[in-house]
Amino acid sequence: MIQQYLKPERHDIFEIESTIYQDLLAFSQRHPSVQPFCGDWNRCHIEGNYDFIFFDPFDYRMEEGAQVEGLHCEQDQRATRALKMRALLNPDGVLCHPHFGDGDVPELPGFATVIVERVKVSPVRMADETLCEDVAIVYHKPLA
Ligand SMILES: C[S@@+](CC[C@H](N)C(=O)[O-])C[C@H]1O[C@@H](n2cnc3c(N)ncnc32)[C@H](O)[C@@H]1O
Repeated sequence: MIQQYLKPERHDIFEIESTIYQDLLAFSQRHPSVQPFCGDWNRCHIEGNYDFIFFDPFDYRMEEGAQVEGLHCEQDQRATRALKMRALLNPDGVLCHPHFGDGDVPELPGFATVIVERVKVSPVRMADETLCEDVAIVYHKPLA
């Protein structure tokens, strides 16, 4: 959808898992603006002034029903990652991520949160095997 609707001049994609990276390589051959990177994005040296970051590492545990144990550690990691992504964005850039459920959308330090729309979707099977039919279209704008 990023290729289809945003038509980026350059589209960097980071993938940590080697077999999925092979799919990414094939995808990059069909879409010349795609630059594939293999590895943990958080450990890669990234030089970027991005207009848009779509952050979708499939770590949806925090959004609903997080266990209290480890919550603070998770929140610290989330804050650290948010600040790192803020540094990679242009001042007018946008950070976007999936949000499942009809609950509150957590704030991110250094960003203003905008809920564009809440919509019903076909049931999505979550990591804990529950089905989810509510998503929010969310973006975060860097605060000055
Ligand atoms: C939900 S999928 C992304 C799907 C993608 N948005 C799409 O539309 O095709 C999450 C992907 O992020 C990768 N991933 C998870 N953690 C990562 C990390 N730290 N660095 C790079 N890739 C990561 C996973 O291996 C997985 O392929």
